[in-house]
Order: sequence, then structure tokens, then C-alpha cells
Amino acid sequence: MRVIECASAAEAADLVAAEILAALARKPDLVLGLATGSTPVGVYERLVRAHREQGVSFARVRTFNLDEYIGLPADHPRSFRSFMHTHLFSGIDLPPENVHFPPVDGDLAAGCAAFEAAIAAAGGIDVQLLGIGSNGHIGFNEPTSSLASRTRPTTLTDKTLADNARHYVPGEVQPHRATTMGIGTILEARRILLQSFGSRKARAVHAAVEGPVSSFWPASALQLHPDVTFHVDADSAALLTMRDYYRRAYVDERTPGR
Ligand code: PGA
Repeated sequence: MRVIECASAAEAADLVAAEILAALARKPDLVLGLATGSTPVGVYERLVRAHREQGVSFARVRTFNLDEYIGLPADHPRSFRSFMHTHLFSGIDLPPENVHFPPVDGDLAAGCAAFEAAIAAAGGIDVQLLGIGSNGHIGFNEPTSSLASRTRPTTLTDKTLADNARHYVPGEVQPHRATTMGIGTILEARRILLQSFGSRKARAVHAAVEGPVSSFWPASALQLHPDVTFHVDADSAALLTMRDYYRRAYVDERTPGR
């Protein structure tokens, strides 16, 4: 696991966007796993800017979002489809038919199987973007999710509902169910780029990076993956016990021959 402690969320977004753009330059039909929430917004801003200012094309990219709420119409302003449209899809040349979300209506079991089959048919996810919940969730894989779980409907914890309540006005109905890629699905991505900002996530980051692998802290499953990078700010890194080591390792990595 690589841990990069960044000076700011903006620096983390610069690094992650640069990784995605480099991967896209190598493979124009890149398969991207995408996340929602406040964390990835800076990355999406940079991808939109690369399209507008440098003419970077996403015309052959395929995308698979991690999760979506059950109970909100696709065009609802709080749906993750709306979020992605606002922050990324409306600003790049990604064809709508290349966009995939886990199913939220109809036969969910069949829809989840079809979503997994579509990932496989695309050749698997090349780069998966992740945030992390304050309870250690990735996607909407809440604590006690099987580390082998696949795309499925799930129930959100009180902690997640409380964390996300800020996006809803008082009295507005907040969905409490969602469909999410499973932890097993996420672990099949070739490369995983996680970002975490703020002290609210410090305990989860510590558990994920330095704790035992446990379904009680779902992000700890990432320890089983060969190519994961955590991009964290100082507040999210606060409880890590090996911060100096992560800094030295990152300097070594960028200094050949050191
Ligand atoms: P946030 O959510 O980016 O809004 O903090 C992250 C998550 O819950 O995975």
C-alpha cells in the first residue's frame, strides 16, 4: 500500500487527476471506476479542465460508478447520476452509452449480475477512484460487508446517514438503501486511487492502512490489493503511526538511485 500525505486536497486532486490522464494517454478506451461525494470533486474539475483546455478526449472511455441510491429517480438532484452529470459528464465528451451505474429498480439481483457482467465485458476496471466513509466504508459497503461481496443492494448505517444528512434540507426524504459494487468487485480493479480529507476520517484511514484486515473496517480489505494508493491530507493522516516512513518511501520512489 502506498500512502501519500499531501499538503492539501488540491495537491491530492492534482496527483490523482495526473494518474488518470496518464492512464488515459496510454489507453484511450480506459475503464474507470468512479466515486461520488465531496472527495472526488477536485479530480473531476481537473479532468473537465484537461478536456476543455488540452482537448483530452474521453470519447472511448467506459465508466462504472460505485453506487447509487435506491428510491430516487435518476434525474433527482441528489441521485449520484445527477452528481456525476453536474461534476463530470456534462463537461467532457463521454458518450452516455458508455456510462454505467448499479441498478436501482426492477429485478435488482438480475440488474446487479448484469452490471458485473458489463464490467467483465469491458475488460475489467483499469483505475478505480475511491473515497472512504468515517466508518471505513468504500462504496456503500458498510461495516460487516463480506470482503468477498459483489454488487448488491444494501442498507446504509446510521453513521453514513448522519454523515450525508448535510446534503438534504430538513424534512427532505433521505434514501436509506443503495446498490453498491461489492468489496470483491472493487478488489478486482487493476489500480485503486483512494483520497481522504479531514480529521473525521482519521480513524478510518488508520484502521484501513495500519489495522488488521476486518469486515468491520471495509477499507482494510484494500491491504489485499497489490496496487492501492491512499492520498491523504494531514488531518486524515493524523492517527497513522508510520507517517515518516510513508514520506520517506514516497521520496525514494520519486528519486531513482537514492
Ligand atoms: P465524502 O464521502 O467524499 O462526501 O466524504 C465519502 C464516502 O462516504 O465514501
